[in-house]
Amino acid sequence: MFENNNFKINKICCIGAGYVGGPTMAMIAFKCKDIKVEVVDLDKKKISLWNDKNLENLPVFEPGLSQIISECRNKNLTFSNNIKSAIETSDMIFIAVNTPTKSSGIGAGEASDLRFVESCARDIALYASDNTIVVEKSTIPVKTADIINKILNTSNNSKKDSKFYVLSNPEFLAEGTAINDLLNPNRVLIGGENHYAIEALSDIYSVWIDKKKIIKTNVWSSELSKLTANAFLAQRLSSVNTISAICETTGANIKEVSKAIGMDKRIGEYFLNHGPGFGGSCFKKDILNLIYLSKFYGLFEVAEYWKQVLKINDWQKERISKLIVNKLFGNLKSKKIAILGFAFKANTNDTRESSAIDICKNLIEEGANLSIYDPKVSFERIALDLNLDVAGEDQNKKVNSAKSIEESMKNADAAVILTEWEEFFNIEWNLFSESMRKPAWIFDCRDVIRTSEIDHLKINLWKCGYAKFS
Ligand code: NAD
Ligand code: UGA
Repeated sequence: MFENNNFKINKICCIGAGYVGGPTMAMIAFKCKDIKVEVVDLDKKKISLWNDKNLENLPVFEPGLSQIISECRNKNLTFSNNIKSAIETSDMIFIAVNTPTKSSGIGAGEASDLRFVESCARDIALYASDNTIVVEKSTIPVKTADIINKILNTSNNSKKDSKFYVLSNPEFLAEGTAINDLLNPNRVLIGGENHYAIEALSDIYSVWIDKKKIIKTNVWSSELSKLTANAFLAQRLSSVNTISAICETTGANIKEVSKAIGMDKRIGEYFLNHGPGFGGSCFKKDILNLIYLSKFYGLFEVAEYWKQVLKINDWQKERISKLIVNKLFGNLKSKKIAILGFAFKANTNDTRESSAIDICKNLIEEGANLSIYDPKVSFERIALDLNLDVAGEDQNKKVNSAKSIEESMKNADAAVILTEWEEFFNIEWNLFSESMRKPAWIFDCRDVIRTSEIDHLKINLWKCGYAKFS
């Protein structure tokens, strides 16, 4: 496998078949037909869905993913629960398991829970049979490579003749655009110590990515850059969301302001869409991680600084919830509210940390009956997120999942748009508003409604960021 310190990669495996492991490995298999790629996970149901003949059932919905899976699956791309044999037979092993926020013990609520990463390192120490490159794909705190190295090289289980080379290769894809992000990344970051191991990973990416975009750094820079990138992106969103509130009270137009500032190349035009607060599995947990790290190193002012980004995000969700209650005369008891969109953004079935969760919980608390429509999120998922007792009759009446926009809006007192699904841009409001109970409201938190389509209807409109509709 390794000659003169040059690594020849014939087979790779990835531990963790989630939103990152699945799409990233599919892309490597798609582009590097001479490499065998195996994706493994402890979760049996998830693996059976990755192997499902019906591509509609893949556990991750991502535009363009099913085409790639159908081309590569069972050729050079396989999904299995056989972690031991996948590790034994691979030259390079990616760790793409979840790294949630710790829920108890030291650092609870802020630090990363690294038990899944640790468990992967222990499995690799136990089963890897030869020299192996281990790649951190999960987002982890700075210095995690040290922990992985210690486990790999000092574990009782570690085979005496095995040598390990740990690399950091954080993933920057965003859900909903994962395939395009993997095809045309802004950059690929590889942090490591061993030149030959770095080159082996770089060679894989350079099959389809310009070498100039492949950045090679030390391990700690690579680990810290990932947390920093997410923190900076989230900070932009909290910033623009504070400005949306100022626009609502002053008459400035949030789109005009965003355009005006975004045309300054130093600021840039992307990631300036205001909304109901950012969601997703990573921004909050990665900023919490940065806050914990800052405190750990005694940098308390730095921790306070980043905390504000999260506070503003919570504030945006709360102010929208309160505003809905106020517009509906301070009372939501027995009122029906249509919730349009539950995923944390469009083009994904992921609801982790979706703003819709907090906003829906606030409305339920006020006594509202919710009819939730999302084209890709199941009621099972919604019920789990809202802690519903689905067996209990009461909760069943309070929240239901609608099969269509029409069903969701029928007799509703209000509709709240929380995800920017394409189909919401094309709603024929004149048809649906008829069936709403008057006086009816639409709360557009994602700027999807063209106001000219609604001006003449007997319906009230609130649009986040616009004084005219406040
Ligand atoms: P996920 O929860 O979708 O998938 C993680 C998978 O790992 C799960 O299926 C779980 O069963 C499996 N797993 C956990 N421990 C295991 C073990 N010991 N052996 C085998 N399988 C195990 O998570 P995700 O969204 O794919 O994120 C993975 C990592 O990538 C996280 O660190 C995250 O911060 C980072 N990341 C995520 C995104 C994103 O958009 N979701 C983007 C960039 C980076
Ligand atoms: C984010 C980063 O964009 C990825 O680079 C990173 O790899 C990933 O986190 C991660 O580490 O997990 P993701 O969370 O999948 O990706 O999706 P984003 O497009 O960043 O959206 C996050 C949230 O911000 C969503 O709720 C979205 O609606 C919101 N958002 C995004 C806005 O409100 N306005 C915008 O202009 C952009």
